[in-house]
Amino acid sequence: MKQAVAEAALTYVEAGTIIGVGTGSTANFFIDALARIKNRIDGTVASSLATEKRLKSHGIPVLELNEVDGLSVYVDGADESNHYLQLIKGGGGALTREKIVAAASRKFVCIADESKLVDMLGAFPLPIEVIPMARSFVAREMVKLGGKPVYREGFTTDNGNVIIDVHNLEIMEPAKLEAELNNIPGVVTNGLFALRPADVLLLGTPNGVRTVT
Ligand code: 5RP
Repeated sequence: MKQAVAEAALTYVEAGTIIGVGTGSTANFFIDALARIKNRIDGTVASSLATEKRLKSHGIPVLELNEVDGLSVYVDGADESNHYLQLIKGGGGALTREKIVAAASRKFVCIADESKLVDMLGAFPLPIEVIPMARSFVAREMVKLGGKPVYREGFTTDNGNVIIDVHNLEIMEPAKLEAELNNIPGVVTNGLFALRPADVLLLGTPNGVRTVT
């Protein structure tokens, strides 16, 4: 199903443009599919060092975001999506760069299998990227909000920070919580993509790819 949605996402790739590429196992299928049409695009911007490496292994040009004016489309997976295409991302720890690349893109195409579609976000623990010295402080703030913070041990982000995964959150108002969490000193980004949700969700099902907009 991941391969099917990755293939379906190729139809959103506009010739002669630069595209953003996400991180994770579903995004990896997209990268492998993109390799077949690499001569049609001007280049890519990667949302992680792992994605950059995979793109380069296929001979797909990778540019710095600072070098480009904007991106036509961003293709990436998600850990959860609600019916408004608001997402939880960051299971792979690349949430900050993913959010930057998504924000710089005209269209965000999310690719996932149908198990990721939920009525309410929050069953998947919400990842928060935190400056290392603020780890305990931010964790205490999460407890005040009713969450159960768990430090992702032995993991450092591409930006040199740590991740706290927050369990037990019932996220009724994703956009409000996204803004609130980003206001806590020491938080770099949280994994809610609600202020800039996906524009299209391609869901892999046993009966084929379902498009949700
Ligand atoms: C990485 C992410 C991924 O998109 C998310 O974890 C989904 O990954 P996968 O496609 O492997 O299920 O946000 O930070």
